[in-house]
Amino acid sequence: SAQLNKLAKAAGKLYFGSATDNGELSDRSYVNILSNTDEFGQLTPANGQKWEYTEPSQGSFSYTSGDQIANLAASNGQLLRCHTLVWYSQLPSWATVNSGSWNANTLTSVVNTHISNVVGHYKGKCYAWDVVNEALNDDGTYRPNVFYNVLGDSYFALAFKAAAAADPNAKLYYNDYNIENPGSKQAGVVKIVKLVKAAGAKIDGVGMQAHLIVGSTPSQSQLQSAIQSYVGAGVTEVAYTELDIRFSSLPPTSSGLTQQANDYSAVTKACLAEKACIGITIWDYTDKYSWIPGVFPGQGDALIYDSNLNKKPAWTSISSVLAAA
Ligand code: G3I
Repeated sequence: SAQLNKLAKAAGKLYFGSATDNGELSDRSYVNILSNTDEFGQLTPANGQKWEYTEPSQGSFSYTSGDQIANLAASNGQLLRCHTLVWYSQLPSWATVNSGSWNANTLTSVVNTHISNVVGHYKGKCYAWDVVNEALNDDGTYRPNVFYNVLGDSYFALAFKAAAAADPNAKLYYNDYNIENPGSKQAGVVKIVKLVKAAGAKIDGVGMQAHLIVGSTPSQSQLQSAIQSYVGAGVTEVAYTELDIRFSSLPPTSSGLTQQANDYSAVTKACLAEKACIGITIWDYTDKYSWIPGVFPGQGDALIYDSNLNKKPAWTSISSVLAAA
């Protein structure tokens, strides 16, 4: 059957894409598939644009890792989703609450400097930026990270304003997980979108990471309902930004693989049914390079190509759903 980005575009979406990471780019068979624009029309660097890589010491910027993936996307003719600016994780030690003694003035300056440099460096190259990442607890309250502890909820507008100033054409997203279906955390996202807009800052999109689990993936109607709530709060677009659907125990049975294929179908159908959903990015395309086994030992096989780069039933189901659109 036909390839995913080509089908997604024919169905009116902007892209079907994949995350990738620097260490994998020496694997030629892997890169060949990644670079096929009929299959993947968009790349996201899984690590290289994060704060610990881009500003490893204060005021000193490094773009080697991020540029490698930005350049690959450009030479392939793929869109780039840029990831991520303000996140509590993968901060360099100088920026964490323990090693710094920030007050509102100094941390405002740190955030402005980071965003103006990094977004400025990639100006014109990012279709979108994940401006703020994972700012919510699962109950929808604000995560007590260094930014919130020092600046309160004003750090959202600060970050979105700085990003808009540095690249007025990039789409600016709030990005998080466990926000794909209605609930406390989804309500928290609605609150953030309204807060940023009320402060007069630009926010274009909500990124639903969608790190899901086989058999407990939300239904298509739940998925659509969450999307509608974000559009109702005032963003013009949403995207599935880090999709993977993992098995909580391994190895999968053949009925498990069918369930996984159905779960991928539900997400694809939800995106197709909602005009505001502009695209789907999987968090790398092959089980060979998934983050999951490292973080959830004993779990995984979450992607649409297996570790030998062969297509799984989930690939076929996404392809058929897109082809039928
Ligand atoms: O680059 C070093 C390498 O030099 C070293 O030898 C090796 C030893 O552990 O570590 C390597 O760094 C790892 C890095 O990935 C690059 O492979 C880090 O340890 C590892 O923690 C890091 O994991 C990344 C994770 O974010 C960290 O939070 C994953 O690759 C990346 O896929 C994952 O992505 C996140 C999104 O940014 C946000 N949403 C959740 C998603 C999954 O956790």
